[in-house]
Amino acid sequence: MERIAIYPGSFDPVTYGHLDVVERGLRLFDRIVVTILKNPRKQFLFGLEERLEMLQASLTEFRRVEIDTFDGLLVEYATRRGAQAILRGLRALSDFEYEFQMALMNRRLNRDIQTVFLMTGMRWIYTSSSIIKEAAQFGGNIEGMVPPVVLERLERKFPLLARARREQAAE
Ligand code: PNS
Repeated sequence: MERIAIYPGSFDPVTYGHLDVVERGLRLFDRIVVTILKNPRKQFLFGLEERLEMLQASLTEFRRVEIDTFDGLLVEYATRRGAQAILRGLRALSDFEYEFQMALMNRRLNRDIQTVFLMTGMRWIYTSSSIIKEAAQFGGNIEGMVPPVVLERLERKFPLLARARREQAAE
């Protein structure tokens, strides 16, 4: 039987921390479906299409990875996709409470689907999409934290980041 995991998230935008979780997950699962929640209630920096494109461009080398979107309940989506597991990355302790709550609710909703947490590499333990966006907005150097395609798109959103990178290149 093919072992399939769903890796859900907002991916606003995808970071090297997310890619690290995908790489680690591929050691355990035959296939990973990276899926973006279509959630109109939440405010995102990037639209759904943009987030999809960035994921696609960042994951081209991973042949056993599929990219998708979903709405509604995650466990129902996982069942439709024939997955046995939900994959989530864990960084610092601060992630734990939210993840624990979500995993327990998902288990209550469907006992056949297991949540699997993978610890991200130490390099990514302090990064998150939010903190990266915050730094980028004010021209902070976020090179090496996100794939090139994301860096390029963040530059388009944040003129201060584009200016800082131009100045750096001119030095
Ligand atoms: O990257 P995020 O924003 O932390 O991802 C959150 C996500 C998409 C995993 C979560 O909000 C989700 O699964 N939403 C779908 C609705 C659902 O099934 N929620 C879990 C039970 S409360």
